[in-house]
Amino acid sequence: MLFKLFITGTKSRLRCTSVMSSLNEAKKLAAYRAVDEHVLDGHVVGIGSGSTAVFAVNRLAERFKQENIKIKCIPTSFQSRQLIISHGLPLIDLELQPELDVCIDGADEVDRNLTLIKGGGGCLLQEKIVASCSKKLVIIADYTKDSQKLGEQYKKGIPIEVSPMAYVPIKMRIERNFGGTVVLREAVMKAGPVVTDNGNFILDWRDYNPDYDWKSVNLELLQMPGVVETGLFVDMAEIVYFGMKDGSVKITPHPNNYVDKIC
Ligand code: 5RP
Repeated sequence: MLFKLFITGTKSRLRCTSVMSSLNEAKKLAAYRAVDEHVLDGHVVGIGSGSTAVFAVNRLAERFKQENIKIKCIPTSFQSRQLIISHGLPLIDLELQPELDVCIDGADEVDRNLTLIKGGGGCLLQEKIVASCSKKLVIIADYTKDSQKLGEQYKKGIPIEVSPMAYVPIKMRIERNFGGTVVLREAVMKAGPVVTDNGNFILDWRDYNPDYDWKSVNLELLQMPGVVETGLFVDMAEIVYFGMKDGSVKITPHPNNYVDKIC
């Protein structure tokens, strides 16, 4: 009996390890291809946050050393700043360089219009600022992020960064105006809420109507006092690279070839 349990446990651990390695392989494929196709010598590059962005930084560091490309990197979070520094890449900021050539970042989910959910790692505010200052936003992701509609696969909700004093009224207003459930994101190794790199809280909005017009929902959310930024990236991504299970890369350009920019 004990032996049977041991075998079953080992089998499920092996299955889990092989899923993880296939996901990591997919992330790496997408990241390497996107960096190779979009980063040129002399570029100012926005560095996204999350586990897929790590592969992009690895590739940038390889090219920086092997091809001697001159790039400058702008981080989108504390994590990506640390990645840039630890890989010996040139670090710069928006004060010195307010326009970027390209920003390479991950996503939690991508729908058929290339509307993104971002902020699973809590870095949505700086990610959106840096992306909005870039000539193009290139998204890198594994095959589990590729959806027809938002919420199809990513069940943790749409992240919304809010001023701490306003989290309860904002939660109530979103639930009343749009339906669904809004939860305050709790920290894992700390009692209490997640506090972002900017000192704010994150609300995760779940069980929303997947057929919403995300452009207008996003604008309405942004008008609520206390909402700092949303993890809805509408008409921002120019192209998405999905690493697939079979080792290929699916490349999806924005359907209208149209992207919003503030810079
Ligand atoms: C962080 C983000 C990340 O890009 C997103 O969560 C994807 O992360 P990963 O590459 O680890 O799946 O938006 O705020």
